[in-house]
Formats: sequence, C-alpha cells, structure tokens
Amino acid sequence: MKVLFVCLGNICRSPTAHGVFAAQVARAGLGARLAVDSAGTAAWHTGKAPDPRTIAAAQQRGIDLSALRARPVSAADFAVFDVILAMDSDNLAILQTLRPAEYRGHLGLLLDFAPQTGLRDVPDPYHGGADGFEQVLDLVETACTGLLEHLQVVLRRDGESGRTL
Ligand code: 4NP
Repeated sequence: MKVLFVCLGNICRSPTAHGVFAAQVARAGLGARLAVDSAGTAAWHTGKAPDPRTIAAAQQRGIDLSALRARPVSAADFAVFDVILAMDSDNLAILQTLRPAEYRGHLGLLLDFAPQTGLRDVPDPYHGGADGFEQVLDLVETACTGLLEHLQVVLRRDGESGRTL
C-alpha cells in the first residue's frame, strides 16, 4: 500500500508527516508493505530540502527529514497512491480538481484520523514562530498513529490491497 501526504509547499507539513509516518511504519515492521511519500500542490520549492525549522523540530523528536526533497503533486500520483491525505482543506480542494474520475483510493484529510484533536486542518506554520512547528508535530504524530492503526486493520483484512479503505 502506498500513502502520499500533500501540503502547499512540501517543505513543512507534508515532509513532517512523511518522516513521522515512515518512522512509525518502520517501528511496526511494516516497511515492506507500506510505502510513504509527500508532495506539494505548489511547485515553488521543488528540489529543496524541508524548511530548516521543520528539520530542527523533527530532529528534536528523533526524526531526520534532511534527505527529503520537495516535489509537486500531479494527476499521475493518483495512479500510484492508494491513500492521498491533504494537510488542510485548501489543499484537499486542489487535489479534488486533479482526481481522475476512476480513482478508487482514499482521498481525504490527515486529521480525520485524529478526531480527538477537534481540528481538520494542520495550520500552516511557514509565516509563524517555533510554536507552529511544534503544533504541526503534535498533530501529525497523533494523526499518523490513528492512520497506522487504521491501515493495519485494512492490511490484515485485505492483504496487499488498500483499495477497500
Ligand atoms: P507547507 O508550508 O505547505 O507546510 O510546506 C508552506 C511552505 C512554503 C510556503 C507556504 C507554506 N510558501 O509560501 O512558500
């Protein structure tokens, strides 16, 4: 099963989700069954590493994001990824315009896997202070835990396919 996280720039929120979820997947011993990637709806930062503030905040929690590089999302991603999760409603709306009619995977919001947070959007930390990056990590860790629990059930039920998510 393949999971794609999408934000605006692919240098703050979605690389955080990419690194956090990949670490959780590895810890669960599911690295061979769950692939993880991230992308942005804007191409401004293509080829760049995550924002230094994002890298520093994740490093403090033992997650190394420094090897990640930003890329834009495209309609072709719908042929590859079983699960596509936007970090906020604006980016979900853009993804809905790219979604091919025949897509049978799951397109939704990451925070729908963390209903206990009471939020649907991961706030964009780019123009704010260090607190924003901590909040991104808190929300992403909680939601990725919920996502992994959900996908473990799906994997057990359906083997390799996530098509019935
Ligand atoms: P992200 O944050 O979507 O979480 O990667 C942003 C990164 C860059 C910009 C905006 C948001 N920007 O305006 O360049």
